[in-house]
Amino acid sequence: ATAAQTATDTHRTVAVAHRGASAYAPENTLASIDAAHELGIRWVENDVQRTKDGELVILHDNTLARTTNVEQVFPDRAPWNVADFTLHEIEKLDAGSWFDPEFKGERVPTFEDYMDEVENNGQKLLMELKSPELYPGIEVQALAELDHAGWLNRSHVKRRLIIQSFNADTIKTVHTVRPDIKTGFLGNPSVADLPKYAEYCDQINPHHKAVTSDYIAAVHGLRGPHHRPMELYTWTIDDGPTAVKVADLGVDGIITNKPDVVRDALEGS
Ligand code: G3P
Ligand code: CA
Repeated sequence: ATAAQTATDTHRTVAVAHRGASAYAPENTLASIDAAHELGIRWVENDVQRTKDGELVILHDNTLARTTNVEQVFPDRAPWNVADFTLHEIEKLDAGSWFDPEFKGERVPTFEDYMDEVENNGQKLLMELKSPELYPGIEVQALAELDHAGWLNRSHVKRRLIIQSFNADTIKTVHTVRPDIKTGFLGNPSVADLPKYAEYCDQINPHHKAVTSDYIAAVHGLRGPHHRPMELYTWTIDDGPTAVKVADLGVDGIITNKPDVVRDALEGS
C-alpha cells in the first residue's frame, strides 16, 4: 500500500464543500449547496453575517460588492457593507450573475432558508461565524436561530453541525452557551498554546500551508471538550495531489471549492 492508502484505510479524510461547491456555483448560495448535494457531498461550509436590521444572512465578504450586483442597484451606498443594508434591500440583489449568467436570480440566502436547504438535502454544516467582532451578540443569535431551525436536537448536534470562527472568544462563547456543540478554531495556534484551545475547541482548522505531520500529531494528542481526540480540518485545497499529500499527513478534513475532485483523489489514492 502507498502511504495514501495506509492513511485513508485507517483514517478517513472528509471533503467539505467550501462556501458550497463554489467552483461550480456561486459561493454561499442555495445553488452552491445544491451543487454539492448533486455531487454526493454531505459536508458544506458557509459564512454567517448580519444585516443592518439584525437578520442573519450567508455571505463571505464583509461587503456585498464582489458577489452581488449591489453596485448597480445601490450605486450611492459604497462601500456596500452588509451591515449597512436591510434584509429587504439585500433580497433585491442578484448573487448569481457575477459567477455565471446561468445563475441569474440567485439570492443572498437568509439563515433560515439556507438551513432549510441543508436540512432538505440531508447535508451537514461546518458553519463559520464570520467577522463576529462586527456583530455583537451574533453567537447567541445564531444559536437561537439554529434551535428555531431544529438543528440543536441531539442527533443534529452529534452528527451534523460544527461551528467555527477565526475569533477565539466567539468559539468560547458558543461553547459556554451550548457545550454540546462541536466547535473549531480557524488558525494555527502554537503547539504550546493548543491545550488552552482544547478546553473549548474540538477542532483546530489551519491554512494548509501551516500543516505538518508534527502539528497534526500535537492536535490529535489532545482531547477536546467532548473527551475525544481533537481533529484538524484544513483549507482551501482544490487539486487532487495536494489533497492526497495532506491526507497522508493525517488531516481529518479538507475544505475545498472542488469537493468532487478532492473526494475522488482521496478515494483513488
Ligand atoms: O473554512 C475555512 C475557510 O472558509 C476560512 O477562510 O476566508 O474562506 O472564510 P475563508
Ligand atoms: Ca469560511
